[in-house]
Amino acid sequence: MSRPQSPVQPIVALDDVHLTLDSGAGPVNILRGIDLSVGGGERVGIVGPSGSGKSTMMMVMAGLERPSSGRVQVAGCDLGALNEDGLARFRRNHVGIVFQGFHLVPTMTALENVAIPLEFAGARDAFERARAGLEAVGLAHRVTHYPGQLSGGEQQRVAIARAFVAEPSLLLADEPTGNLDLETGAHIVELLFGQARRRGTTLVLITHDPALARRCDRTVTLMDGRIADDGLAGRVRAAGLPAAGE
Ligand SMILES: Nc1ncnc2c1ncn2[C@@H]1O[C@H](COP(=O)(O)OP(=O)(O)OP(=O)(O)O)[C@@H](O)[C@H]1O
Ligand SMILES: [Mg+2]
Repeated sequence: MSRPQSPVQPIVALDDVHLTLDSGAGPVNILRGIDLSVGGGERVGIVGPSGSGKSTMMMVMAGLERPSSGRVQVAGCDLGALNEDGLARFRRNHVGIVFQGFHLVPTMTALENVAIPLEFAGARDAFERARAGLEAVGLAHRVTHYPGQLSGGEQQRVAIARAFVAEPSLLLADEPTGNLDLETGAHIVELLFGQARRRGTTLVLITHDPALARRCDRTVTLMDGRIADDGLAGRVRAAGLPAAGE
């Protein structure tokens, strides 16, 4: 299946995004002028050395971190124009997030964890849909287990079920296969891509895993708070068109 080459309507558009945070040792320039466009339905891998700003960029896309300057548009929303309530509504309606580490609520069962986004959205059938979401990731037999009673791979599957359950148009995942053995990691990758394909979800995946990066339509490389390679040149070449400068 061919993917959009130059999306007319990107689902994510970052325009000259800078983020500076204060630390004890003075200001740290974490994002230093990020321009990035992601088309609807695209699967984008984000790679780069530790500390290059990958997780921070994802937090900006999710509206969980406000940039110091620049423009962030996601799913037709200008995030800079939204207040905290507006940002919460934006996330509820458009974004699913799998955090680095699993971030499950330890005092809630797998079923309750997956139902959280639906309950926030006021869905009456939250638990039925959460149960179906857990079935879809092969965890029908673990609904009443607490995170502490689940393996790492199972906890990541619960986190994935929770991220997809409200049918977001954009799914952000930070190292979804980090801390998992190879076989479990490969299973998680299949789940992510399978769920995204079925629902037409746009995927932005941060990863150190070359196998996961290869599964994506393109790979964006961050270096020191900047985009060193947005992966578009290779994509243009793959389509048989001359890349810029060739
Ligand atoms: N709240 C903060 N205050 C100050 N500096 C921060 C803060 N959060 C992150 N940083 C710094 O910003 C830089 C980028 O961090 P970030 O977590 O985005 O990196 P990353 O690319 O996700 O790395 P990794 O691959 O290790 O997860 C790091 O140097 C980090 O120390
Ligand atoms: Mg990170």
